[in-house]
Amino acid sequence: MKREELDNLLYEALETEQGGVKIYETAVRAAVNEDLREEWQEYLGQTRRHVEILEEVFEALGLDKDKQTTGRQVVKTIGEALVEAMTLAQKSGPKEAAEVVAAECVVLAETKDHLNWELLGEAAQKLSGEERKALKSACEEVEDQEDEHLYHTTGWTRELHMQALGLPAVLPPPEEEKEVKTAIGAARAKQQRREML
Ligand SMILES: [Fe+2]
Repeated sequence: MKREELDNLLYEALETEQGGVKIYETAVRAAVNEDLREEWQEYLGQTRRHVEILEEVFEALGLDKDKQTTGRQVVKTIGEALVEAMTLAQKSGPKEAAEVVAAECVVLAETKDHLNWELLGEAAQKLSGEERKALKSACEEVEDQEDEHLYHTTGWTRELHMQALGLPAVLPPPEEEKEVKTAIGAARAKQQRREML
């Protein structure tokens, strides 16, 4: 494994979580549905914890958490653009439309977050000793949460769009009701929603 690339990925992952805190803070304000607001509030707390978890990994691996890399700058730029997009929608449109925009932005951010942790889980297997232990336990702590952040918000986004289109919507989405934590589970929940309507 190219160790330098793992370091680069870790810088991206830290920036993703730090940007994620700002994205959730903005998204919570945009939530109209009470269940969704509660869910995002919970994810905000978990994302704050993910920042701390990564800072602990940085310590174990001897990395400087303030170091800037190109990859990190890219992640930061995208994160700021997502916050800007959500804010624009909140300022200029009906609140239901701003809620959908926020949901889409959360899905975009969580897609990157989910990928980061999936890759970090793979990379952890190739480390040894204390470094392996630190990264592995970090991955174990966040894994299920990242699955929920992505799959549940994807479900919310689809159903909020359905509602906006005036089509039958399942709220909260089946992904949340069924506590989906895998891509297969998400596909199944999506399939079953058709039978529910
Ligand atoms: Fe996260």
